[in-house]
Amino acid sequence: MMELIQRPRRLRGNDSIRRMCRETRMSPDSLIYPIFVDETLKGRRPIPALEGQYHYGLDTVCEAVRECLDAGVGRCILFGLPAKKDALGSSAWDEHGVVQEAIRVIKKEFPDFYVVTDVCMCEYTDHGHCGALCGHEVDNDATLELLAKTALSHARAGADMVAPSDMMDGRIGAIRTALDEAGYKNVPIMSYSAKYASAFYGPFREAAGSAPSFGDRKGYQMDPHNRREAIKECALDVDEGADILMVKPALAYLDVIRECKDAFDLPMAAYSVSGEYAMVKAAAAAGLIDEYRIMCESAVSVFRAGADILITYYAKELSQAMKKGDIG
Ligand code: PBG
Repeated sequence: MMELIQRPRRLRGNDSIRRMCRETRMSPDSLIYPIFVDETLKGRRPIPALEGQYHYGLDTVCEAVRECLDAGVGRCILFGLPAKKDALGSSAWDEHGVVQEAIRVIKKEFPDFYVVTDVCMCEYTDHGHCGALCGHEVDNDATLELLAKTALSHARAGADMVAPSDMMDGRIGAIRTALDEAGYKNVPIMSYSAKYASAFYGPFREAAGSAPSFGDRKGYQMDPHNRREAIKECALDVDEGADILMVKPALAYLDVIRECKDAFDLPMAAYSVSGEYAMVKAAAAAGLIDEYRIMCESAVSVFRAGADILITYYAKELSQAMKKGDIG
């Protein structure tokens, strides 16, 4: 007979002890659900690229919120599809723009539902880039002003938090200054700090109508080869006043999540993006994987890597999985 002293299997004997000994803990409070609001839509319309997700009109966006609350999700991030686009993306900072109105509609019915807004120009510009152009390049410093105006208009409409996703240099500082000067000192900024130039955003760009009409986003989003640069981006955001950092996408960047988490004291968010969701849906539809278990395992891995907050199209299903104790 072998005389083993250490037997790790003792802690795996049944569900009760396994759940007690879990190293990674998470709750529905860590989840943020993305909601797409279309200014021209009445009712809701399925998003073909994102099975199970919808575009909502201003008349139905509260249904999306109600479904979140029923599932135990108390937070969303809003994306807008404007009626009109132009070269500068001026609908983005329109006081009566789609996101601004969506915030008002939601807050009227659900004042305690936490509303984060995505701050970017790509859904509002007719060329689909994340800022004002100078020739074929996005003009960094000219875009800062547009982003700051946009974030401020979200705060004025009642947004609880703003989340700039454009990757311009200096945007956190520009937005912080604009918010502070207008008296919104307590509106936090969740920065898409390490946002990579990723093919995983494909379905989103279809959903948001925000694919660039020429070129790509590699001139502002990060090169997937880079790890140290993520630390640098986070450090700049911390200096400029970010309250929450983010790594995006999630599953292909777990190493970056861990590294940034270890390097900074701020809460760390991860965005499990549209392509991650669409891949799971497609593989499940093909009968290749167990969707529920893959969803659970993927989310656990993001938290295990160090995320405190997860933005995901599976927020409602994950919340239920956490409440059942299947994860968390
Ligand atoms: C806007 C923005 C994008 C996403 C979030 N905010 C698209 C992009 O940068 O092209 C992607 C979200 C997803 O894929 O789920 N800039």
